[in-house]
Amino acid sequence: MRTAVIGCGYVGLATGTVLSDLGHRVTGVEIDNAKLAKLKKGVAPIFEAHLDDLLKRNVDAGRLDFTSDHLSACADAQVIFISVGTPTSETWEIDLTQLESAIVSIAEALNARAESEETPVVVMKSTVPSGTSDYLHNRLSTLTNKKFLMASNPEFLREGRAIFDTFYPDRIVIGAEDEKALGILDELYSKIVSQDFESAPPRPARPDGFTVPVPVVKSTRRSAEMIKYAANAFLATKISFINEIANLCEEVGADVNDVARGIGLDSRIGQQFLNAGIGYGGSCFPKDTKALHHHAGSWGYTFTLLNAVIEVNRIQRYRFLSKIRRALNPLNGKTIGVLGIAFKPGTDDIREAPSIDLMRQLARDGVVLKATDPKAIDNAKREFENCEYLSDPYEVARDSDALLLITEWPEFIDLDWSKIAGLMKGVFVFDGRNALDRARLWDAGLQVIGVGR
Ligand code: UGA
Repeated sequence: MRTAVIGCGYVGLATGTVLSDLGHRVTGVEIDNAKLAKLKKGVAPIFEAHLDDLLKRNVDAGRLDFTSDHLSACADAQVIFISVGTPTSETWEIDLTQLESAIVSIAEALNARAESEETPVVVMKSTVPSGTSDYLHNRLSTLTNKKFLMASNPEFLREGRAIFDTFYPDRIVIGAEDEKALGILDELYSKIVSQDFESAPPRPARPDGFTVPVPVVKSTRRSAEMIKYAANAFLATKISFINEIANLCEEVGADVNDVARGIGLDSRIGQQFLNAGIGYGGSCFPKDTKALHHHAGSWGYTFTLLNAVIEVNRIQRYRFLSKIRRALNPLNGKTIGVLGIAFKPGTDDIREAPSIDLMRQLARDGVVLKATDPKAIDNAKREFENCEYLSDPYEVARDSDALLLITEWPEFIDLDWSKIAGLMKGVFVFDGRNALDRARLWDAGLQVIGVGR
């Protein structure tokens, strides 16, 4: 199917690339010139497993191309995805500016289409408050006399696993008030639903036990939009819940890792998203929890639980900071090495990363900072300059008074900790993700301070 994708961030790029790999003809619209230049050459502007290979294969095959011109991209598209950014303001309100300009461009493109073209479906992929697609439907209707359909199709992929999640989603959610729109999206996703493709490299392998067909949840646009916010808010709630249990474990002398395993084995609770630590970051949970809270408020509803989730997450990293302050008192003049800058492993994304916030605070306390990350150093350099960035974790450890594990990249877990102990000046390792093998570090003569244990 002829498909246009407006906005080539994580969501737009992963969706467009995978759909082209399954045989659809996809054009991505990107207005950032630097990103566009890379995409045109088939080079990914972000680090994401499998993306480079898939991009190149489909650009070379002529199934995938990129442009800054909405008109040409949407000229004969049957499906037009909107996957632009929806940042939140200081007051947690969602900023619709990029959506608004996407709608204006789509209107222009529709107005230029021949009468004979099929009625396209405009699909909202960006994460938005419930009712936004209805609003945009009305807005687009005022800008064009041409027929179009409108659907909401939220995305649940995780950064670092964007391509994997797009090939192997837990579910596909389609919100549309119109059978025809539902039918077009059914056809677009048919190969993913039936898993009618070989999972040979560069496609990631299909996980064992993957359920086919992939469940498709059909609803109204408003419900589809709410499903997305509710999913992220629920996952964020799980994290803040286990972090509060962790804080209590510290008081009573229990180990939150054991508690998480003990409760997670209850199939009604589940093991995932019960890793206690310094809290969630990234471009989604912090933004979406705040936006949902604001959205509820705009309907006169106070979302009390969500407010607590956000507050627990805000405080969690300062509790961690207090531990560092207490152990190394005074901090002024101390050298601290930071292992991991990305907001989670598998990505170079540092948006809302706890690492940056912590480093800023520590720099204010007069700490000399060194940091490393397998993928995020370039992004970190642009965001926070007051730090020596090194590619070798052992050099980060050299002469440090303490080390902080902020992102649980596997390469950090498997470091030679005896060698690290020999290089460090001090003995403290603060494990912000409860990911290190404490016995191994203790044997090496290091003191591990985790969260909730
Ligand atoms: C999240 C959701 O998991 C996706 O389903 C969703 O599509 C995406 O947001 C989005 O809305 O675009 P993502 O932000 O890529 O995906 O990352 P997650 O793997 O969910 O992790 C988010 C944060 O929570 C990370 O900082 C991670 O370290 C933290 N986390 C996660 C914990 O602190 N504890 C856990 O147990 C799990």
